Amino acid sequence: MPTMNPRTLSLRALLLLGLWHTGRRSLASAPDLQDPPKKIAVVGAGIGGTAAAFYLRQEFGAGVKIDVFEPESVGGRLATVKVGDHEYETGGAMIHPLNLHMKHFIEKLGIPPRKDVHSKMAIFDGKELTFEESDWFIINFLRLLWRYGFNFLRMQMWVESILDKFMRIYQYQQYGYSFSSVERLLHAMGGDSFPTLMNQTLEETMIGEGFSQVFLNDIVAPITRVNYGQSVRINGFVGAVSLAGTDSGLWAVDGGNKKVCSGLLYHSKSELIPAKVTSISVKVRPSKTGPASSFYEVNYVDGSGSAHALYDIVVIATPLHQGKSDIAFSGFSPPIPSHYPGRFQQTVSTLVHGMLNMSYLGTTEPASKFTVSDILTTDSKGSVIHTLSSVDPVHIPPDYKRPPASQTKVWKVFSPQPLSQEQLKDMFLSRDSVSETRWLAYPSYSPPHRKTPPFILHNRLYYLNAVEWAASAMEMSAISARNVALLAHHRWHKQVGKIDQEDLHTRLRGEL
Ligand SMILES: Cc1cc2nc3c(=O)[nH]c(=O)nc-3n(C[C@H](O)[C@H](O)[C@H](O)COP(=O)(O)OP(=O)(O)OC[C@H]3O[C@@H](n4cnc5c(N)ncnc54)[C@H](O)[C@@H]3O)c2cc1C
Ligand SMILES: *[C@@H]1O[C@H](CO)[C@@H](O)[C@H](O)[C@H]1NC(C)=O
Ligand SMILES: *[C@@H]1O[C@H](CO)[C@@H](O)[C@H](O)[C@H]1NC(C)=O
Repeated sequence: MPTMNPRTLSLRALLLLGLWHTGRRSLASAPDLQDPPKKIAVVGAGIGGTAAAFYLRQEFGAGVKIDVFEPESVGGRLATVKVGDHEYETGGAMIHPLNLHMKHFIEKLGIPPRKDVHSKMAIFDGKELTFEESDWFIINFLRLLWRYGFNFLRMQMWVESILDKFMRIYQYQQYGYSFSSVERLLHAMGGDSFPTLMNQTLEETMIGEGFSQVFLNDIVAPITRVNYGQSVRINGFVGAVSLAGTDSGLWAVDGGNKKVCSGLLYHSKSELIPAKVTSISVKVRPSKTGPASSFYEVNYVDGSGSAHALYDIVVIATPLHQGKSDIAFSGFSPPIPSHYPGRFQQTVSTLVHGMLNMSYLGTTEPASKFTVSDILTTDSKGSVIHTLSSVDPVHIPPDYKRPPASQTKVWKVFSPQPLSQEQLKDMFLSRDSVSETRWLAYPSYSPPHRKTPPFILHNRLYYLNAVEWAASAMEMSAISARNVALLAHHRWHKQVGKIDQEDLHTRLRGEL
């Protein structure tokens, strides 16, 4: 039925269709039943918005015009700064080896991954280094076993079991299935266990699974601090995403992760409109030949003033939260807020080209032997930093070797507040340059969570960043982008059988 031309339908079919529509009012106002949409707007050109443009093109074909609005740089929270002759990531930096959409993007765009530089981790408790990774796997293994028993191995198994379920989303999306809310998407992947994870703290979850409090304080907290600038009281789902971030094989994009965003934009043949969207309203246009059709009027401002344009479908790809965006939605019933409840967490990323003060780390190790790349921190009182890392450029020059701490090089500090001159002086013996980026980085997670914002704000108005309340990561935005593109397509063409299907895991098992 949905693929039939409405003009050739019999009266009976039309009546049936009409009845069917009243039962699904939210779907009833598409301008035409089978014509593709003419114009789609995407608000924001981070990885979410550009991936949405890519998938919308894939779903709706070459005929639709896609406009992407972005007043700042393409890439959003994926950004680099130049220090000396090289560029360094200041925002989202690392990608998990099983982040299949990100992997697919670079393959499709022909961008290589960045050359791997061996990383080494240490943990700082505010006074001294409590753990320092050795180059020898067996030594690390024995040290951890000695201190934490089998907690470490069990953690890897626990994360793997969650990852196994997480991976189901790729099969669902491959078959075109989409979900109307974050809760339903999580439920489709992990049954009741995922929404429950999202509703509990990581601490509660892991204590419940039998992990020790000492292990949580010494090992897990430093990991949640490096990834989300928060304690083990974040939700269990984003906590598991954090812990997966300690797996081996993490990668980044050669030349900078933001290259994926500009690549997707180009590949999707979208038009980039360098303007800020100020408001969106519904416009109903009466039609002589059929039912009234509705459009979204997108109002925007750029350097030369304000303008507006009409769209059939709009995708919001920026967080609707205080400080992140300020879009007024007018004429909607029920009303759509400019800002949903919940706040975003500040993480200040400071890049320092200079020489580290080894005594700051309370170590007497010679700096010339110190090749640790990532210094994580425990959640101790008075600790001003979340992490201190020796960073490598986004493009690794041939025969590059990470210099030891005895040389002047680029360090990256994550902290909740900007670092004062005193703090910088204490940490570094010398500073050639200091570059600071203040991010409203990711949600401030405090489960149990109130209702997560919806993916569907209105009939054909979608919201991608709702997913960040489960977990904020490049891949999460990419998964949400594909979900929203599928949802937009199925709702446009009334293919309700591809939305919110239960029990997909067992149903698709035979298809593997
Ligand atoms: C310091 C830091 C470290 C991180 N580390 C990692 C990591 O290692 N791995 C990982 O996977 N993730 C990491 N993340 C998270 C990751 O960067 C984000 O989840 C992801 O980049 C979000 O992408 P997005 O496109 O959804 O949102 P954004 O990148 O925020 O894009 C939204 C865009 O919308 C634009 N916009 C806002 N308002 C308007 C408007 N009114 N009109 C038009 N455009 C508008 C903004 O300018 C912005 O460019 C990190 C984030 C930070 C800040
Ligand atoms: C999550 O917690 C809230 C508040 O305690 C509750 O209303 C909701 O039903 C819970 N959801 C799940 C999936 O457990
Ligand atoms: C290095 O750090 C130690 C410990 O924080 C501090 O006492 C010392 O003053 C610092 N050194 C310099 C030269 O600033």
